[in-house]
Amino acid sequence: MCGIFAFLNYNVARERRYILEVLFNGLRRLEYRGYDSSGIAIDADLRSPVTIDKGEGNDGGEEASRLPYNSAPPLVFRQEGKIESLVRSVYSEVDAMDLNLEKSFSVHAGIAHTRWATHGVPSPRNSHPQSSGACNEFLVVHNGIITNYEVLKETLIRHGFTFESETDTEVIPKLAKFVFDKARDEEGEQTVTFSQVVTEVMRQLEGAYALIFKSAHYPNELIACKRGSTLILGVKELSDDKNSGKLFHDVKALTKDEKPKELFFSSDLCAIVEHTKNYLAIEDNEVVHIKDGCVSILKFDYGREKPASVQRALSVLEMEVEQIKKGNYDHFMQKEIHEQPHSLTTTMRGRLKDNSVVLGGLKDHLKTIRHSRRIIFIGCGTSYNAALAARPFLEELSGIPVTMELASDLLDRQGPIYREDTAVFVSQSGETADTLLALEYALGNGALCVGVTNTVGSTLARRTHCGVHINAGCEIGVASTKAYTSQIVVMAMMALAIGADKISTQARREAIINGLSDLPKKVSEVLKLDGEMRDLAKSLIDTQSLLVFGRGYNYATALEGALKVKEVALMHSEGMLAGEMKHGPLALVDETLPIIVIATHDACFSKQQSVIQQLHARKGRLIVMCSEGDATSVCPMGSCRVIEVPQVADCLQPVINIIPMQLLAYHLTVLRGYDVDQPRNLAKSVTTE
Ligand code: F6R
Repeated sequence: MCGIFAFLNYNVARERRYILEVLFNGLRRLEYRGYDSSGIAIDADLRSPVTIDKGEGNDGGEEASRLPYNSAPPLVFRQEGKIESLVRSVYSEVDAMDLNLEKSFSVHAGIAHTRWATHGVPSPRNSHPQSSGACNEFLVVHNGIITNYEVLKETLIRHGFTFESETDTEVIPKLAKFVFDKARDEEGEQTVTFSQVVTEVMRQLEGAYALIFKSAHYPNELIACKRGSTLILGVKELSDDKNSGKLFHDVKALTKDEKPKELFFSSDLCAIVEHTKNYLAIEDNEVVHIKDGCVSILKFDYGREKPASVQRALSVLEMEVEQIKKGNYDHFMQKEIHEQPHSLTTTMRGRLKDNSVVLGGLKDHLKTIRHSRRIIFIGCGTSYNAALAARPFLEELSGIPVTMELASDLLDRQGPIYREDTAVFVSQSGETADTLLALEYALGNGALCVGVTNTVGSTLARRTHCGVHINAGCEIGVASTKAYTSQIVVMAMMALAIGADKISTQARREAIINGLSDLPKKVSEVLKLDGEMRDLAKSLIDTQSLLVFGRGYNYATALEGALKVKEVALMHSEGMLAGEMKHGPLALVDETLPIIVIATHDACFSKQQSVIQQLHARKGRLIVMCSEGDATSVCPMGSCRVIEVPQVADCLQPVINIIPMQLLAYHLTVLRGYDVDQPRNLAKSVTTE
C-alpha cells in the first residue's frame, strides 16, 4: 500500500544534498506502491531555530528545551502528489529557510514515505512522516493499518494530545512520546532506551504494520519493526570487510563498530539493490535498532515482559540493478511485457528435469495434495485470473475437483473449507490483505495451504505450509504482466508434479514439458506483434468500451485482457465467458462496440467459430485472435480484423494469448495519454481489505 524507506550513514561524511537524493531515490523506487503523497524527515542544524510542522497553538518552546543538548527538532517535509512534487517542494523550502545543502554529516538518519491513502485524503497533513507534535520528538513512517487506532487516539486525547491528521498512523509517534515522557518523569533522564520506547509502543498496537522511527531524543539512531508488512534492512560496509553471513550483536552487549557504513530500511528490495546486495528480511515482531554503527535485533513476545535479543545472518540478494531500471524502454510495463521470454526462463530454471518437474517447495506435500478431496485456488485480480487459466489442466492431470475463490468473496461468505482440502493461495506480492485473511481462515479450518508468490520472505510465503516462488523478478509497473505469465507456468508445473503418479497421462505430461521448454521462444515470436497491436490501439483510441470473449483455457485470457485495458487505459472493458454470450451480452452487440474473440486452436475451437458467426450475423465489430494459419477459417472473406498468434500446447496457450492483450492495453494507454506505470487510484500491493 505504502512505501517506507530510511537511510543512515555512519562514520562516512555525506552532504545534506546527497542524503536528500538517496531518500528521494528510495521513494522513486517504491513509488509504485503508492503515489498520492509523500514525505521525508532529515536533521536540522544543531539547535536550529527552524522548526516546522508545529502543532496548532503550540510553539514547541517547552518541548524544544526538553531535547538533548546535541539534538535539534528534525525537519519534516510533506507534499501531496507524486514524488517529483515532493522533490520540488523540498528544494524550494530549503531554499526559503536558507538551509545549507552542502553541510556534511558524518552520521545522519533520514526517513521517507510514499503513500496510497486509506485513512484521510491525500494531503500534506495526512502524509508521513507523522509526528508526535511540536518539535517532532518522535517521527514515524508506516506501511499497513493500525486497527485499534481509535481507542488509542481517545486515550491520548484524554492525556492532552492534539491530533492534526485523519490517519491511523498519527497515534504511533504520539504514543511513543507518551511512553517516553512517562518513563522520563518517573525515572529521570537517560533511563529509557529507544528500543524500550518502541517495544512498549508495539505492545499497544493492533493491526498489520511496518514502521520506522526517528527521534530527536535519540539522534543518529533509527528503529524499524514490523508485524505483517514486509520490511528489509540493507547493509553496505564501506570498508573492505565482507559482511555477508555476519551475525549481529546482542543489544545488551552493543559494542561500538566504528567501520564506515550505510544502512537502509525499505518496504522492498527494489530500493536497496542499487546500494547493496547484503540484506536481511526483518521478521514479524522483530525490533531492529541502529545505533553507533551497530545493528541489534530484539524479538518482541507478547507473553514475555522483556523482548529477547536475537542474532540473524545477512543474505545476499540475487537481483541485478538492471531489474529496477527502465533501460531502453519508455515505461516499466513495456519493459516487463518484453522481458517475458527471460522471466519465464527464470521461472522454469532447474525445475524441468528428464521429462519431469521438480518443485523443491512442494515435493514433501505432493502425497497429501493427491489425497485431497478438493483443491481450491484463492487469489485476487490478476492472480485469480492466472489460477483460472491453470485450473482446467490441474483438473485434468489430478482428477481432483478444483474450485476457484476470490479471496474477498470467500471471506464475505465464510465459505466452507475442510481439513481434506488443499488451498492454493496465489499472490504476486504475498501481502494482499484479502488473500492473507483468507489464508488465516483456511489455516484455521485445517486445510493444507500452498503459496504461489513472487515475493521471497512475504507473509504468504511464511504463513503457508509449502509453496513455489514464481521467480519472475521485480515487477514495478502496477499492472501485472510478467508475473501473470510466470504464475500460469508455475501452476502448470504444479499440475504436472501433482499428476506425475499417473501412467495414463504420461504422454500428455511429456508433451507439455516439451512445450514448456519451448515457451520462451514462442513468447519472443508473439512479441513481434507489438507494431500490429499499436495499430489496433490507434483504431480503438476513441471507443468507450471493449468486450473480450474467451472460453476453456482462455476464459482467463478474456478476464485478464479486459482487466489490463481497464486498469491502465482507463477504458471500460469486460471479459466474458463466450458460452454465456447468448444469455445476455449479445444484446450489446452492434456495429460500433469492438469485441475481441479469442479463438485459438483447442477443444473449444469449433464452439468459438460458431460464436464468431453469431456475432457476424449481428454485424458485430470483431477482432479475432486465432492460431497462425487459421485466419481464413475464423474470418471468411476477411470480414474482420485478425490477430494471428503462435500455436502452443492448449494449456500453455493462455501465456501466449495474453501478450497481444498486454501490448494492446499498453499502447492504448500511451495513445490516450494516461500514466502507464502508475494508473489512477491503484497501487501494486493492496494491504487493506
Ligand atoms: C492487476 C494486478 C492486481 C493484483 C491484485 C492482487 O494488474 O496486479 O489485480 O493481481 O491486486 O495482488 P497480488 O497478486 O499481489 O495478491
